[in-house]
Amino acid sequence: MSLKVEMFIALVVGLSLCVQLEAQLQVGFYQTTCSLAEFVVRDEVIKAVNRDRGVAAGLLRMHFHDCFVRGCDGSVLIDSTPTNTAEKDSPANNPSLRGFEVIDNAKSRLENVCGGVVSCADILAFAARDSVQMTGGFGYAVPAGRRDGRISLASESLSNLPGPSFNVDQLTQAFSGKGFTQEEMVTLSGAHTIGRSHCTSFSNRLYTFNSTTSQDPSLDPNYATQLKLQCPQGSTDPSLVVQMNPSSPNIFDTGYYMDVLANRGLFTSDQALLTNPATANQVSLNVGNPFLWGQNFASAMVKMSQLGVLTGTAGEIRSNCRVIN
Ligand code: HEM
Ligand SMILES: *[C@@H]1O[C@H](CO)[C@@H](O)[C@H](O)[C@H]1NC(C)=O
Repeated sequence: MSLKVEMFIALVVGLSLCVQLEAQLQVGFYQTTCSLAEFVVRDEVIKAVNRDRGVAAGLLRMHFHDCFVRGCDGSVLIDSTPTNTAEKDSPANNPSLRGFEVIDNAKSRLENVCGGVVSCADILAFAARDSVQMTGGFGYAVPAGRRDGRISLASESLSNLPGPSFNVDQLTQAFSGKGFTQEEMVTLSGAHTIGRSHCTSFSNRLYTFNSTTSQDPSLDPNYATQLKLQCPQGSTDPSLVVQMNPSSPNIFDTGYYMDVLANRGLFTSDQALLTNPATANQVSLNVGNPFLWGQNFASAMVKMSQLGVLTGTAGEIRSNCRVIN
């Protein structure tokens, strides 16, 4: 093959990859059609987060769970019906996902000012960005123009989302399946610097680690003692939650990476980042470089927010984020 032909092929492959990644989303998509869109979403996020700081974490996680399952199409927002169990009722989301009312409030205001224009998927993408920013992370421009999907299946959640008992290889695989590098996986995991977890997501590390050892030896014993007080053995009470990064659970700092380095990562999947030389190295690097991590996190969010999006005339603009039109 001649060099020219090879270069041409490389160019075409490169371009088509860009098209896939970037889709046709645009920063400022609602500038002319609903100029208040991002302002209204931000206003609702500010009100909600001022009422309950934890809602910021809820909205960030909700966007992640939307994007990894059927792309960022608002499918996580759809309610179950008598004939369909939706994503939000998968054990990956119920009872843990929170913040739905923030999206509903933004949506109803936007339907009043510019009906049928702003998608639920975009509202969620804006709200996740605002949540990162409100807790002290970097803001970033959100390319918009997503349309809402009409399908939401609980059965697709667990198979597309990484689980808290994953090891590094499983985490890396789950993210590479969505087009992310291992490095981006470690970067995005830093989201666990805010929010909370239900006891059931990690209680196996405290009581039933394996047949010979009850407590996960990779967990700092003092932290384990503290966690056991908050999460009594055998309790499945869904109101039992613990804060992640307990020293600053509402601040978007590098506390998550400090926790992991100190064997205080809450999930097996968090602590697992120390079991691989490359990911362990990145954990240490991020601890000392909050600015670099903050920038990398914002870039990875922009990338995540474009996963499998519907654009143009695909999908719909839901008038109620909980039900298809
Ligand atoms: C790396 C693989 C990941 C795993 C295994 C994982 C797993 C989990 C689990 C089990 C919880 C606790 C849910 C509960 O019991 O209440 C949680 C919470 C959370 N996750 Fe992840 N997660 C991962 C990646 C991410 C990513 C990429 C983001 C966002 C960019 C994210 C954001 C959050 C947030 C903010 C919370 C707190 C939610 C709240 O306070 O309501 N996670 N995650
Ligand atoms: C249980 O975990 C401990 C500590 O990691 C390990 O030494 C032991 O081999 C494990 N036992 C089984 C049966 O897997």
